[in-house]
Amino acid sequence: MTMPLYVQGAWFLAAALFIFGLKGMSSPATARKGIVVAGYGMLLAIAATFLIPGLQNLALMALALALGGAAAWISGKRVKMTDMPQMVAIYNGMGGGAAAAIAAIEFAKGQSHSTATIVLAVMGAVIGAVSFTGSCVAWAKLQGVLKKTRRLPAQNVVNVALAGIALALGVTMISMAPAPAELIVAFFVVALLLGFVVTLPIGGADMPVVISLFNAFTGLAVGFEGYVLGNPALIIAGIVVGAAGTLLTQLMARAMNRPISNILFTPLVASEPGAAISGSMKELSALDAAAMMRYAGKVIIVPGYGMAVAHAQHKVWEMTSILEEAGVTVKFAIHPVAGRMPGHMNVLLAEAGVPYDKIFDLEEINGEFAQADVALIIGANDVVNPSARTDKSSPIYGMPILNADLAQNVIVIKRGKGTGYSGVENALFYTDNCRMLYGDAQPMAGEIIQHLKTMG
Ligand code: TAP
Repeated sequence: MTMPLYVQGAWFLAAALFIFGLKGMSSPATARKGIVVAGYGMLLAIAATFLIPGLQNLALMALALALGGAAAWISGKRVKMTDMPQMVAIYNGMGGGAAAAIAAIEFAKGQSHSTATIVLAVMGAVIGAVSFTGSCVAWAKLQGVLKKTRRLPAQNVVNVALAGIALALGVTMISMAPAPAELIVAFFVVALLLGFVVTLPIGGADMPVVISLFNAFTGLAVGFEGYVLGNPALIIAGIVVGAAGTLLTQLMARAMNRPISNILFTPLVASEPGAAISGSMKELSALDAAAMMRYAGKVIIVPGYGMAVAHAQHKVWEMTSILEEAGVTVKFAIHPVAGRMPGHMNVLLAEAGVPYDKIFDLEEINGEFAQADVALIIGANDVVNPSARTDKSSPIYGMPILNADLAQNVIVIKRGKGTGYSGVENALFYTDNCRMLYGDAQPMAGEIIQHLKTMG
């Protein structure tokens, strides 16, 4: 059906808003505006869809929108910052599932399409179905519903076999079009199973990269189904999401020094106990920590997952402001996978009001640690573990880390002797220049602030 000009125009405008929105999201300063702009784009695309002449089931569409919109609004309001990765995973899965559902309906209608359209519909269906079940598994793992990482015997052979069967069924569907119902059902069952089986053995530490990969998959699937429906807004939105997801996946994989093929096919496990660590952990008090930083020339703060859990970002910024007023230079060093999602630390620091020009990426700041009097590590662990540079038996070997160990003094705020996400012991905590300040990050930052205030 040819769409009226006003619908096409609105979809085109929506696609432009998606692109402007994404551009805004490329910097923390404009990210919030970017999200709002993209949201208006989505609103416009949905409103224009309702204006398509002769559309049926309008009431059902409105009901689906109301239910989905309400669920998203409530869960979006309630979600904790630390639970964001699984929320992203499940929403992303919904997108993949929706793309697969569009394809399923087109196949079920049995209308004649060009071969190119059927090929794209089949490709979108496989990719969307894999993204749907894979993202559901990712959600279940990060939410703690699925606790164990299960690996089938000959896992990779099973993965390849399922992918081969899905491909063969897809090709048969293309050659037979319109395909019989049994074939369509078998094709979707295998595609859905493939996403489930591929994701099941992947461990938690690799999960964010996998979520990002499925995000790229969903974009691709949506783009293909947009072509099938002749909807340019879907095509452009799909391409934009697919490209952004692919870039993010590559960046994260590089930041963890894990090739994507390893993430999908070789589990991350601590196979050996790791190199023996000598020395002992030495404690210091909040008063000593305050004095060390108050009389320092330069302090570099390394925030990590613990700062997020403790909601300590506001106190950390208050502490920074006091130090700066006293003439100390303070900078923030952000590792690309610090926390539990891309940009986690940047979002928290921005929320607390830390200016962007005080926040530095790994490549920008790593050369400065050697000139810092104090590196203050707040709830970070893996991202400052020097074993990643030296211990070949460590599961995080090769991951680029922040060189906090090169600072004159290192202060670590954490609650106890807990390991980081990878479960590996941190050699930094045992070095001569490192002191531990045990406690929850928020009250500890508060105590340091109290002492700083008395130092004038
Ligand atoms: P982690 O290595 O997870 O270490 C966090 C540390 O914070 C723990 O050692 C913990 O020690 C401490 N902590 C927890 N709660 C605290 C609290 N309330 N107050 C003070 N300290 C607290 O964090 P990281 O250095 O940010 O590294 C991130 C890790 O997560 C990497 O291994 C990364 O690969 C992985 N990962 C990253 C992402 C993304 S995309 N960012 C997503 C998933 C996984 P105590 O228990 O002793 O307090």
